Amino acid sequence: MSHQWWRDAVVYQVYPRSFADSDGDGMGDLPGITERLPYLRDLGVDALWLSPFYLSPQHDAGYDVADYCDVDPRFGTLADADALIARAHELGLKVLVDIVPNHSSNEHELFQRALAAAPGSPERDMYIYRDGRGENGELPPNNWTSIFHGDAWTRVTEADGSLGQWYLHIFDTTQPDWNWENPAVHELFAGVLRFWLDRGADGFRVDVAHGMAKPAGLPDATVNSAGLIDIPEGEVPIYFDNDGVVEIYQEWRPILDEYDGDRMMVLEAWIPEHRLPQYIGTDRAHQSFNFGFLQARWGVDTMRRAIEKPLELADAVDSPTTWVLSNHDVIRHATRYGFAPEHRFGEGLSREETPDAELGLRRARAATLLMLALPGAAYLYQGEELGLPEVADIPDELREDPAHTRAGVPGRDGCRVPIPWVHDAPAYGFSPTGASWLPQPESFGAVAADIQEGVDGSTLEMYRTALHLRRELRLGEHADGVAFVEDAPEGVLALLHGGVLVAVNTTDADVPLAELPGAAGLGVIAASGPVDADVIPAETAVWLREI
Ligand code: NOJ
Repeated sequence: MSHQWWRDAVVYQVYPRSFADSDGDGMGDLPGITERLPYLRDLGVDALWLSPFYLSPQHDAGYDVADYCDVDPRFGTLADADALIARAHELGLKVLVDIVPNHSSNEHELFQRALAAAPGSPERDMYIYRDGRGENGELPPNNWTSIFHGDAWTRVTEADGSLGQWYLHIFDTTQPDWNWENPAVHELFAGVLRFWLDRGADGFRVDVAHGMAKPAGLPDATVNSAGLIDIPEGEVPIYFDNDGVVEIYQEWRPILDEYDGDRMMVLEAWIPEHRLPQYIGTDRAHQSFNFGFLQARWGVDTMRRAIEKPLELADAVDSPTTWVLSNHDVIRHATRYGFAPEHRFGEGLSREETPDAELGLRRARAATLLMLALPGAAYLYQGEELGLPEVADIPDELREDPAHTRAGVPGRDGCRVPIPWVHDAPAYGFSPTGASWLPQPESFGAVAADIQEGVDGSTLEMYRTALHLRRELRLGEHADGVAFVEDAPEGVLALLHGGVLVAVNTTDADVPLAELPGAAGLGVIAASGPVDADVIPAETAVWLREI
């Protein structure tokens, strides 16, 4: 079999509203992304994944889709999407689009039709409508709660003005769940896949990929939702990871396989790692995000486990694992690592929380360097290559995350602040007019891309070096596996892979290089912080190789 590009690809997540704004309305757009594609090529990534840019009322930043086959005017047009894909391909970059199959927007034409139709009608059957409990149906059909807090059901007013049935929404009220028991829903999504594959998309990132199938009879939950991310092991909400989900990927895979060029899908599923392999294989999905690495606490044992386990599981399904440290749903890793280890990952950072920014960035850079040495695919989130922190100081009235509106948690806006490109331009070069849908903190000036470009030791140059070396040394490939160095000094995580000795000093003291077995005669080819020849500095990662 020829080499399948996604097995060891580095994929860069573009969050369209916050990447680059070409028309000056303060909201990023597709032409803005197209202009910046050379930056991604130079960074050294293989592909980009675009978060949703479809027609949407934007109640969940586009994860509430009103038309899966059209572009929201805020982001551009279908012609802009075509131009973006074409330009990316010219530059040798693959493009993944986000598909959101668990729910649509309540503004989707089919939901509007369902709302207008009578209970029991085929229109209603596209979504999950049920009669309420209680004498007059005044209670929700079951006790499920929404990932964004509050009830997972909303009652509708029927055409005759009476209070009527309830519809299910695992997320916001404006995000009704599709009824995947209805074959018409399967047909609809097969059409959506083909639409984007025909336009040249190289694959899909599947949103809430463990959703869709619901348990028969929609029974009450004994374990209910606790946010999207910080779900204790073994406490996956009842509406996730049900049997019928895999069948959907078994249906989709032949569609992708009809096309040339190794079209692929990567699943977003926040479930325990041992449940993931069932979704992966040559007759189902290609790969899934491995969030265990993102969730691993700083430390030798925790990080080693978060590497070993997925490698072992990946071998079992013959599909390399993935690595990810940040995305648009979690506190940015440059900030996360500056917290006490018991800190959570989701729901944002409040103004009262004061992580150690310097320590956070140091560890984040080290964790990144470790990640980029590992076999498998790696997913980066825009701005992490600049070392951007989570922004806590966003006025409440400007926050858009529905979890904030519904429950008052800080929410995910802090990792979605527009990118600083130019240190002394309006909106730091994000938008020509200086407009920005979320305010950028002043500290963004000092980390703008132009300031870091070409500067030895900057976070941007560390990413570039690591990505180019990773490609040159084919570190993404699995060939000879990963061997942990068992007798590394205390507090040092060390492993050998692809001819590179990778060492992460997780302690707050320098460790003499001479104490690291196998290091003699090797030279440092990449480092997450300043190194001198004799030591691995505190909270720093190095790559060593014969030079
Ligand atoms: C996961 C997405 O990454 C997140 O941003 C979104 O809010 C939910 N799915 C609902 O679509």
